Amino acid sequence: MPMTTQQSVSILETKLRERTAKVVVVGLGYVGLPLAVEVAHAGLHVTGLEISERKVQLVSSGRSDIDDISDATLAPLVKSGKLAASLDPAVIKDADCVAICVPTPLSKTKDPDVSFILSAVDSVEKHLHRDMLVVLESTTYPGTTEELIRPRLEASGMKVGVDFYLAFSPERVDPGNAKWGTKNTPRIVGGTTPACSRMAAAFYGLFLDKVVAVSSTQAAEMVKLLENTFRSVNIGLVNEVALMCDRLNLDVWEIIEAAATKPFGFMPFYPGPGLGGHCIPIDPHYLSWKLKSLNYYARFIELAGDINSHMPEYVVDRIARALNEDSKSIKGADILVLGVAYKRDISDVRESPSLDVIRLLQVRGAKVSYADPHVAAVRMDDTIMEAVPLSDAALKSADSVVILTDHTTYDYQHICATSRMVMDCRNATKNVPKGVGRVWKL
Ligand SMILES: NC(=O)c1ccc[n+]([C@@H]2O[C@H](COP(=O)([O-])OP(=O)(O)OC[C@H]3O[C@@H](n4cnc5c(N)ncnc54)[C@H](O)[C@@H]3O)[C@@H](O)[C@H]2O)c1
Repeated sequence: MPMTTQQSVSILETKLRERTAKVVVVGLGYVGLPLAVEVAHAGLHVTGLEISERKVQLVSSGRSDIDDISDATLAPLVKSGKLAASLDPAVIKDADCVAICVPTPLSKTKDPDVSFILSAVDSVEKHLHRDMLVVLESTTYPGTTEELIRPRLEASGMKVGVDFYLAFSPERVDPGNAKWGTKNTPRIVGGTTPACSRMAAAFYGLFLDKVVAVSSTQAAEMVKLLENTFRSVNIGLVNEVALMCDRLNLDVWEIIEAAATKPFGFMPFYPGPGLGGHCIPIDPHYLSWKLKSLNYYARFIELAGDINSHMPEYVVDRIARALNEDSKSIKGADILVLGVAYKRDISDVRESPSLDVIRLLQVRGAKVSYADPHVAAVRMDDTIMEAVPLSDAALKSADSVVILTDHTTYDYQHICATSRMVMDCRNATKNVPKGVGRVWKL
């Protein structure tokens, strides 16, 4: 006998309430692994579905390659059987809730590449069953859940909001942030129907501190893009202010610190060598791409993208000007870069502006090496570049030491005192007393 909507709703809700619901997280990366850990901590059984054999082996042996998840956190969950990893999409057959956390990069022409989402949905589609909740967490353009995922899942003959539930819930994790993690960062959910929203809120409410429901999947998708566009645009603005301060012969860092004393109406953002990571340089382009299809040109996004993406060139220009003071040119100069991770205290080099700066310096004939306590080696096009130890000899022999990532383990006073010249692109040397070394700031 076919089940009624009311019955099918209560089956999933009951499983969630009793914590017997089985969860599959598709993609065990920076977003998926912390999510799986929270689900397991809440007492639910979770399996991470992966396409990477290395990842499955690593997680199955209780080891993590994500900075925010230690082996000590992961291993007991794996050992107790609460958290497992698999390459077999058939694990979805037994799942009550599936969260999709796969990458959403840009193509070479800066168009959204939703191929990872589509292949994940293919796996879900094959094993979709009644009472299943499917949530997309990957950042994407407004309309993706409704236009790309819903028709594929409904092709099974099952109806969303009646036979299965579909929602979008953006992950807001900030890698390396010790205060705000997956659990205590409020979570947005938007379902295709009110029943879908209710199921998604009930699911996340089991293991996260606060859930905020919005009216639709499109609204939830747009919330995430507003958040990341807000960051990109404000960083673009402050990067431009840095260019202006350079021309006005003013210290941009002094200006920002003073402006930040205003207790209302101002939020400090800081300039730097460019944008990095899998989110801020990419996500706003998902929004502008969607708007182009509606004949709207997203001006702020494009302008901020333009300013931010040119910052590496500006950094190289500043290095050239600093070397010029010593009657040296970039060609032939020994340059030691400190930090290739895209931000402090993490090992992620995706979209890192440090790599752009290194490339530009090499093109101009500099001999570049780098030190980074979190990154032992990086791929630069066809070659692998290995980190050098941050020794006094390395600092002394460099014509310029360029701070591109302000890792907290560095002793900046020692770096300034030992180096011939420091180009500080992050205001990392702000507490170094004046007169110690020769420091140029962005
Ligand atoms: N990294 C962040 O700080 C962050 C923050 C918020 C949101 N996001 C968004 O979350 C999404 C995931 O980002 P991430 O940083 O976790 O990516 P990631 O590259 O770290 O992890 C993605 C994982 O998904 C796996 N994968 C790819 N296709 C798959 C498939 N079809 N089936 C199973 N596994 C598959 C990959 O092997 C990889 O391990 C992106 O949309 C990103 O924009 C990322």
